[in-house]
Amino acid sequence: MVTEIHSAIDFYERHPISCEIILKKLDAARGHLNDLAPEELFPHDQDHYGGLDANDVLAERADIGQGTRIADFCAGLGGPSRYFSHRYGADVTGIELTPARVKGAEELTRRVGLQDSVRVIEGNVMQVPLPESSVDVVISQEALLHVPDKERALSEAYRILKPGGRIVFTDWVAHSPLSDSDRKLMWQGMAVADLCSLDRYAELLQRVGFKVRSIDDLTGEWAEILKVRLAMYQKLRKETQEAGTPAGHDAFYESYVRFVALVSDATLGGGRFAGQKLA
Ligand SMILES: C[S@@+](CC[C@H](N)C(=O)[O-])C[C@H]1O[C@@H](n2cnc3c(N)ncnc32)[C@H](O)[C@@H]1O
Repeated sequence: MVTEIHSAIDFYERHPISCEIILKKLDAARGHLNDLAPEELFPHDQDHYGGLDANDVLAERADIGQGTRIADFCAGLGGPSRYFSHRYGADVTGIELTPARVKGAEELTRRVGLQDSVRVIEGNVMQVPLPESSVDVVISQEALLHVPDKERALSEAYRILKPGGRIVFTDWVAHSPLSDSDRKLMWQGMAVADLCSLDRYAELLQRVGFKVRSIDDLTGEWAEILKVRLAMYQKLRKETQEAGTPAGHDAFYESYVRFVALVSDATLGGGRFAGQKLA
C-alpha cells in the first residue's frame, strides 16, 4: 500500500497540469496575474472528464447549495472545490495527498480570493483528517483509481458525513479484467491501483453503510471526451516542455493512448455513484 501511495505522489509531482503552467498561460494571455477571477481558472484547473458540466451533475445529485459543507476527496489543484464555492456558495475542504498539489491549490485559491471558503489540506483519503459527522457532502472525481483500499476511503466518507449526508463520486471502472500487460502499463504510466466494476462499487457502498441512490455508466460519454483529452495532453506536453514546467513522463503518454483505446472498446469505463448516509 505504501508503494501505491508513493507512486501516486510521484505521478502527480510530474503531471503536466500544474499550478505553474496554469499561471504561465494566464500571464501570457493577460500580460499580468493581478485580479484573477475564479472563472479564468476554470478552463485550466478541472482535472477530470466533462469539466464544469460534470461538477453541475454532482451538485444536482448531492443537493449542493449555499453553505453546504463539502469534503472533496483527492482535490488535486482544487478546481472543483473552487467551482462549488464560487457557483453554489459551498464551503469546501479538499483532501489531497500530493504536497505539490496542495501548495498549488493554496496559491490558485488565494489568487482568486476564495481562501475563506476553500481550503485544500494535505491528507490521505484512507485516513481523513476531519472529525466525524462534520460535512454534508463528500465528492470525488477520477481519483479513487489511485487508492489501493477503496472500502477504507468510502468508510472514511461515511464517518465524516452527518446523518442524511450525501456521497457523489465518479471513477474509472473495469467492465472486464485487464490483461497483465495492460495492468502493468496503467500502473507504470498513471499509478492506477486495482479498479472496481460498477457492481463492486455498489457492494462496497452498501457494505460501509450507504444507501445507494444512483449509478450511471459513463463509458460511452467518456469514450468521446477522452479522445479530445488525449489531444489536449499531446498539445500540453509541447507547451510544458517549452515553458520548463513539469511535462509528464513517457510512460504517462504511452499509457494514456492505451487507456483511451480500452475505454473505446469498453474494457474500462467510468461510473458516477451517489449514496446517502441515512439519518
Ligand atoms: C486526477 S486528479 C483529480 C483532481 C480533482 N478531483 C479534479 O477533478 O480536478 C487525482 C488526485 O488524487 C490525488 N490522490 C491520489 N491518491 C490519493 C489519496 N490516497 N488521498 C488523497 N489524494 C489522493 C492525487 O494526488 C491527484 O491530485
